[in-house]
Amino acid sequence: MSIKVAMSRFTTGVTVVTTHFEGQDWGMTCNSFNTVSLEPAMVLWSIRKEANSHQAFTQSGSYLVNVLQSDQKDTALRFASGPQPQRFAEQASERTAHNNIKLHGSVAWFECRLAQVVSAGDHDILIGEVLGYGSQDGAGLVYANRHFGVLAAFES
Ligand SMILES: Cc1cc2nc3c(=O)[nH]c(=O)nc-3n(C[C@H](O)[C@H](O)[C@H](O)COP(=O)(O)O)c2cc1C
Repeated sequence: MSIKVAMSRFTTGVTVVTTHFEGQDWGMTCNSFNTVSLEPAMVLWSIRKEANSHQAFTQSGSYLVNVLQSDQKDTALRFASGPQPQRFAEQASERTAHNNIKLHGSVAWFECRLAQVVSAGDHDILIGEVLGYGSQDGAGLVYANRHFGVLAAFES
């Protein structure tokens, strides 16, 4: 069994991270997102060093993490491949004061200033300080075993 298969057993949420760099919007599906610190508020995610959008995310200075809702599987798939303009086409969204795209329908969003880049093997870990955030009621999209899903129930 490959390490990738073992790693895929870890259930995560799904996000689309966006940024604006050199006059263009960039976005990619990401499940490596995690929260880090409350005071100050900080979050992280990791990007493959070979990704086409690597330069945009490491040099634009800010990015916005859209936490996808359970009905946004199509959005997750669209932002995982293809030309950047195609990913944003027909996508209801708005632009923030920092020039990043906020997707409509997400359960939460975090706009961040890129605070630190940590090199880790074939990925860079991007640590961001949260500049703004918001959320709405709703269940998040989940991902495990390379499949999307929805939690059947929340138990406490
Ligand atoms: C569910 C899911 C989660 C993903 N998570 C990440 C991630 O955390 N980091 C990453 O670099 N790529 C991740 N990817 C792959 C990127 O979305 C994909 O490689 C990227 O959009 C390719 O475009 P680019 O090379 O033009 O940037 C994920 C893909 C999917 C479907």
